[in-house]
Amino acid sequence: MAHVDVRGASPASVAADVLALPLFEEEVKAGGGALGELDARLGGHLLAAIRAEAFAGKAETTLTLPTLGKLPAGRVLLVGLGSSGRLGSAEALRVAAGVAARAGARAGAKLLAIVVPPALELGPAVRAATEGALLGAYRFDRYLSAKKPARPEKLWVVVPRGQERTAAAREEAGLGAAVAQAVAWARDLVNEPPMVCTPSHLARAAQEVAKETGLKVEVRGPREIAALRMGMFQGVTRGSAEEPRLVKLSWLPRGAAGKKAPLVLVGKAITFDSGGLSLKPTESMVTMNSDMAGSAAVMATMKVVARLEPAFPVHAVFGACENMPGGRAYKPSDVLRAYNGKTVQVTNTDAEGRLVLGDVLAWAADTLAPAGMVDVATLTGACVVALGNGIVGAMGPDGPVIDGVLAAARRSGEELWRLPLHESVRDNLKSDVADMKNSGERWGSALSAGLFLQEFTGGVPWAHLDIAGPSHTGKERGYWSKGGTGVPVRTLVELVRGWKA
Ligand code: BES
Ligand code: MN
Ligand code: ZN
Repeated sequence: MAHVDVRGASPASVAADVLALPLFEEEVKAGGGALGELDARLGGHLLAAIRAEAFAGKAETTLTLPTLGKLPAGRVLLVGLGSSGRLGSAEALRVAAGVAARAGARAGAKLLAIVVPPALELGPAVRAATEGALLGAYRFDRYLSAKKPARPEKLWVVVPRGQERTAAAREEAGLGAAVAQAVAWARDLVNEPPMVCTPSHLARAAQEVAKETGLKVEVRGPREIAALRMGMFQGVTRGSAEEPRLVKLSWLPRGAAGKKAPLVLVGKAITFDSGGLSLKPTESMVTMNSDMAGSAAVMATMKVVARLEPAFPVHAVFGACENMPGGRAYKPSDVLRAYNGKTVQVTNTDAEGRLVLGDVLAWAADTLAPAGMVDVATLTGACVVALGNGIVGAMGPDGPVIDGVLAAARRSGEELWRLPLHESVRDNLKSDVADMKNSGERWGSALSAGLFLQEFTGGVPWAHLDIAGPSHTGKERGYWSKGGTGVPVRTLVELVRGWKA
């Protein structure tokens, strides 16, 4: 669905293959507005179908009616928005637009129109409808012999006549399309099998982004990583036959803005996490190609950053490698020396993400003098136990970065909840032979992972986003399809948009 247009029109005049009308439960009950207008044109059959099918406007429910020549649109598709108590947020519309796009694809629609509910604020609603529809139409069928139904080629976002020319409508549609494309790109990377999406593949992806956007890219290999004395990163990569890569993708504005302290986004980029010698059981290992979702998210964010052109530098940085149990693999009870000089006793080779991230955070803090850093990582199963599969766990000391992230998530519609980096958990990582160990007892281990990372931030304002739950999904839901979700690209984009350099 490459083409997105904002159209000013009354719903009854829209000539699309499928005309999607998102409705709150209260609007379904009342039966007026656009619904009443369409019903009148359809000779009362629309409200009759609502009664016959007991369509109540609940979130993620739909009702389709062919118009049989009575309207310019081929079909009317009613999509529930749930109760209008959710009116404050455009997220209900984003979900409904995703459901509509999927239903439109099943109906074979080439042109899908989505009506923006007049009760919602225009700009955010146009953005949400665009993002939801484009993301709902996403599929990953590269390796399927029988392709999934073709997605609609064109999307019309229908607003009241005259509103289509407003800056809000046009800019938000453009931004929504750019964000959705970036999210889809991140999903593709996460969904690739690990034999394809290797550390060097991720580095090439960064180089392609740079080529296409004009961002600056630096890629370093094993010798340079060794020269930088990133002993934790080197430990993790040892057991793998794939070479590691250290990647930095940068937006550097011209002039004085380029001298400002940057915002740095760090992504976890384990292209496959077998657990290493602390081997994972089969069922937990099978989705571990998605252990690089953090790096996909920070790279995808940079695609949007190149378009936003903020007046301060932004860097995406990641250390990419596999965690494998090869003959040269790092071992439980090895002691590694980090970039910042701290020593770490390995007690579990499956706690690899924090080791690579620690070196990369310390390197970024040391060489980029950041105003703020955010790391994005599929870091702990404990975070999934705590928050489930849909919610990002956010950690970090009080300060501008965690505040910015929490505010950004509210604007983006992505679910995010703060967890405490409580001092009492720090004991968990005390070691008798090194400055600390890389894993302790199970209890509070999402927090101890966060506290481990904090040791490598060099005092830079920082937030840690544990995306182990929402990075991928086993269930189709709203605008999420099975596999990679692209979380938290939308929140990172909003963080950059709201960041005061
Ligand atoms: N990549 C995993 C975390 C993960 C778990 C991501 C489930 C997505 C879904 C991470 O490297 C890991 O193995 N963490 C361990 C840490 C433990 C050994 C301290 C965990 O959470 O079990
Ligand atoms: Mn692991
Ligand atoms: Zn991992």
